[in-house]
Amino acid sequence: MSEIEAFVAGLPKAELHLHLEGSLEPELMFALARRNGVDIPFGSVDEVRAAYEFANLQDFLDIYYAGADVLREEQDFYDLTLAYLKRAAADAVRHVEVFFDPQTHTDRSIPFATVINGILAALAEGERELGITSGLILCFLRHLSEDAAFATLQTAEPYFDRLAGVGLDSSEVGHPPSKFRRVFAAAGQNGLRRVAHAGEEGPPAYVYEALDLLHIDRLDHGNRSLEDDALVGRLVREEMTLTVCPLSNLKLCVVDDLVNHPLRRMLELGLRATVNSDDPAYFGGYVNENYVKTARALGLGPTDLATLAKNSFTGSFLDDAAKTRHLAAVDAYADGFEI
Ligand code: HPA
Ligand code: ZN
Repeated sequence: MSEIEAFVAGLPKAELHLHLEGSLEPELMFALARRNGVDIPFGSVDEVRAAYEFANLQDFLDIYYAGADVLREEQDFYDLTLAYLKRAAADAVRHVEVFFDPQTHTDRSIPFATVINGILAALAEGERELGITSGLILCFLRHLSEDAAFATLQTAEPYFDRLAGVGLDSSEVGHPPSKFRRVFAAAGQNGLRRVAHAGEEGPPAYVYEALDLLHIDRLDHGNRSLEDDALVGRLVREEMTLTVCPLSNLKLCVVDDLVNHPLRRMLELGLRATVNSDDPAYFGGYVNENYVKTARALGLGPTDLATLAKNSFTGSFLDDAAKTRHLAAVDAYADGFEI
């Protein structure tokens, strides 16, 4: 193990950009297909992995939604979530704020309660058995209508006290944040935090809309903000956390090579960037691999990596006391590590 790998392995961190459906490993996909009698268009785990070549976000989404079809029962959502939490615990993740896409399931006639009860039970188990605290973020699919998002929000109402917030994901270009202005306002009025994917493939104008019209508390991806200096200045001033996903960016051709990834520049500009895995089963790396590969490509050292880990706690929805505890743990770890 290299020194950077060893440093990252034990570095306490939070993961703030993780789609539970994107943590469905091919092995579990096959097991659930068998358990539920669902046909999948692949003959083997290797065949599934070989199909994971994407030219852009939509290429990925098509296969990601198809894969989610094996998720049918509450136990499936429980197994999916617990498998992710175990994998995250192995990467020294202490806190997660995870996304789920209820419409992907309710549109297949899976009841909302089946989905969320399985997820919530696993999150509770993860806290008990693995010591990982968590928040759950309900994402609206932006390729669907705002009316459909409203219907989803209404269905979720009995669970509002167990949700950290709402988010916005799926096909970005052509589906600007402004399309969801009213439903985000309603979510905010119900005390839910607001996050949105913006500036992954979409232009800086979409990031402005997410700030001004959706009143986001956190920006998911945000890469293309760097095309607009005034926007960067505003994100710095407003101490906006960006949930950056380097290996996702590489797999979806948002960057052509990790050596050209903007993460180092983001830190230099004073942006509060974090490192996350997005859809690790599809993009080939959980959070530590994102830290290590990006560190290698960009020449980041322990100080930068500790900053990224601290940003992940500062940008989380934990209360101030928990943030202070986690930040002290990162400092203690970094101070005690000889590199
Ligand atoms: N972008 C948009 N939608 C998504 C993503 C992403 O990176 N992952 C899962 N749904
Ligand atoms: Zn994402």
